[in-house]
Amino acid sequence: MNDLPDSDREIMQPSERPVRTFASAWQAPPVDKRASRIRTMFAEIAPRYDFLNHLLSLGIDIRWRRKAVRLAGDFGGGPILDVCCGTGDLALAFRRVHANGIAIVAADFCRPMLVIGKEKAARRGSPIPFVEADALNLPFPDNTFGLVSVAFGLRNVADTDRGLSEMARVCRPGGRVLVLEFTLPRVPVVGALYRWYFHRLLPRIGQALARNRHSAYNYLPASVEEFPQGNALLRRMAAAGLRDAKAFPMTFGIATLYSGTK
Ligand SMILES: C[S@@+](CC[C@H](N)C(=O)[O-])C[C@H]1O[C@@H](n2cnc3c(N)ncnc32)[C@H](O)[C@@H]1O
Repeated sequence: MNDLPDSDREIMQPSERPVRTFASAWQAPPVDKRASRIRTMFAEIAPRYDFLNHLLSLGIDIRWRRKAVRLAGDFGGGPILDVCCGTGDLALAFRRVHANGIAIVAADFCRPMLVIGKEKAARRGSPIPFVEADALNLPFPDNTFGLVSVAFGLRNVADTDRGLSEMARVCRPGGRVLVLEFTLPRVPVVGALYRWYFHRLLPRIGQALARNRHSAYNYLPASVEEFPQGNALLRRMAAAGLRDAKAFPMTFGIATLYSGTK
């Protein structure tokens, strides 16, 4: 843990695709995930990110993160690293459960998200180091963390396999890697309703309330459609060196927690 940044250095520098739906049956162009675009997009929506997350998910996102923390179960001790931490909600959910017994580090490459996360953590009396870092090149030595998590972040990383390998690299042997991500429900009626909401309503509300030049709330459903889901992601985790990879669908499969052991 000596290599982890101390508070003074915080926020310094730095297939297979899901089943195609009617809406996406035509060959959609690949989603633009260049780092500069993703970083600017999240910087633009950072001030409204938490509010919109809770509004657009009707608060269910809070339950998903808490469930992820519960399902992480006994991972054999910390420290914990949460990558693509955004405003820190998953790191803070871990902090609620693990009190101050375990070191938790939150990392992201978008400074405005980190600043909001740091202020929120301080307001809650849960100071956590927020570190500016690229998930594709994590500034931590091999085998450092007992648990490495990512919530709604891996989908935004330009190279999914490299992101998973980096998470696995900094995880200790025997430690756990967790990925919480949006998925598309396959239950017939729920799936159709959800897709209507996700593709039609959510982008309008999101764009109206968090005006940004990068269509962040059109990007969201497009990036979920494109991202590997279920067994496809489990195979990518196995290829990154994680064993016993399992998927835990939540809320009709709108989100899924994936867990693997190094
Ligand atoms: C949808 S937000 C998720 C934030 C948070 N984990 C949550 O549960 O709300 C995605 C985050 O991933 C970050 N991100 C995307 N690509 C990244 C990368 N290559 N390295 C670090 N962070 C990245 C973005 O800056 C953004 O804060």
